[in-house]
Amino acid sequence: MLKLSERSYKMPASPIRRLVPLADEAKRKGIKVYHLNIGQPDLPTPQVAIDAIKNWEPQVIEYTNSAGIESYRRGLTQYYKKHGIDLDYTDILITAGASEALFFTFMTIFNPGEEVIIPEPFYTNYNSIALEADVKIVPITTKIENGFSLPDIEEFEKRITDKTKAILICNPNNPTGALYPQKELEQLRDLAIKHNLWIIADEVYREFVYDGQKHFSVMHLSGIEDRVVLVDSNSKRYSQCGTRVGYLISKNKEFIKLALKYAMARLSPPYFGQIIGEASLNTPQSYFDQVYNEYIKRRDFLIDALNQMDGVFAPKPHGAFYTIARLPIDDSDKFCEWMLSDFNYHGETVMMAPATGFYATPGLGKDEVRLAYVLKVEDLQKAMEILDIALKQYPGRTN
Ligand SMILES: Cc1ncc(COP(=O)(O)O)c(C=O)c1O
Repeated sequence: MLKLSERSYKMPASPIRRLVPLADEAKRKGIKVYHLNIGQPDLPTPQVAIDAIKNWEPQVIEYTNSAGIESYRRGLTQYYKKHGIDLDYTDILITAGASEALFFTFMTIFNPGEEVIIPEPFYTNYNSIALEADVKIVPITTKIENGFSLPDIEEFEKRITDKTKAILICNPNNPTGALYPQKELEQLRDLAIKHNLWIIADEVYREFVYDGQKHFSVMHLSGIEDRVVLVDSNSKRYSQCGTRVGYLISKNKEFIKLALKYAMARLSPPYFGQIIGEASLNTPQSYFDQVYNEYIKRRDFLIDALNQMDGVFAPKPHGAFYTIARLPIDDSDKFCEWMLSDFNYHGETVMMAPATGFYATPGLGKDEVRLAYVLKVEDLQKAMEILDIALKQYPGRTN
């Protein structure tokens, strides 16, 4: 038999997408599936972006500069200025989504075998990217009981070895919805300086911050500008996941210079996506206000509905559009499979992501699922009725 790489066999399948064949099978049988498993917002893309698509009449659909279209990079500095972040356009590389920005970051910072500390549960693709770059993820567990807030800084320090090169945080957090306050970020800054580490921040949910709280970016930290890398994206901000545009940002010139070589190796970020992205910079504030109000409604509904169910607990998320719920079940992988293969209520069921895939520590997340509140309230209402009934019927219920 022809051989393939060991790396490919080790590459984890996305726990968010792993159950898709079961969902497809359920749909073939005529069952309606409510998708709470994936962070694909259903809200319309801003009109300025749709207009840019309609009005685009290129002569040649060409490569762009590997770093991205200069006018777009310059435009982005204005976006960040509004968020209190002062950047030069040369601090920004446009990438094919935050996904590629993360990949370039890992390739640029780490030697094979080096370590990154990440609070778990974490966005599962960090696993895949770490595997691609041969980086070891050292998890630090956050807990559902306190809304997945960051553990004491001593816990981070305990995990630092001579191989540790960086701390990665996702703020606001996917999958937990936690929002990290300024004080905790300042403690991380002090730790990074003390141990000569990078801080990588994934802030793709920056706009999704609730309850009057303000997002504090790693880019707001002073005295650490040269060791901070920011990963960002248009996917969620403008409900335009399909444009595949994100950005990689650092004030460390050497980092950008080296990261650009990976960007050159893939020639160019998506041209069309950048055209749409640049137009999206003119998205009116009213769009963000509408989106914000919609997510608040969805979140409040979902969290209340979950906590009203017998044996269920879900902390109130302050950011992003996810929550992790603890359920009275033996095994979240089995439960989520069962929901798709063996259960339906009046021809309908719910797809969720088992939380096990978001933890690096084996055994954690067995009684937790991640739900994305990306459907309108009427659909969430139906989905919660179905989940409540499913939990009563599930053979592996624990209490
Ligand atoms: C935390 C986080 N980072 C990065 C990404 C990837 O974003 P992009 O679509 O820009 O590649 C996602 C997508 O869901 C995400 O949730």
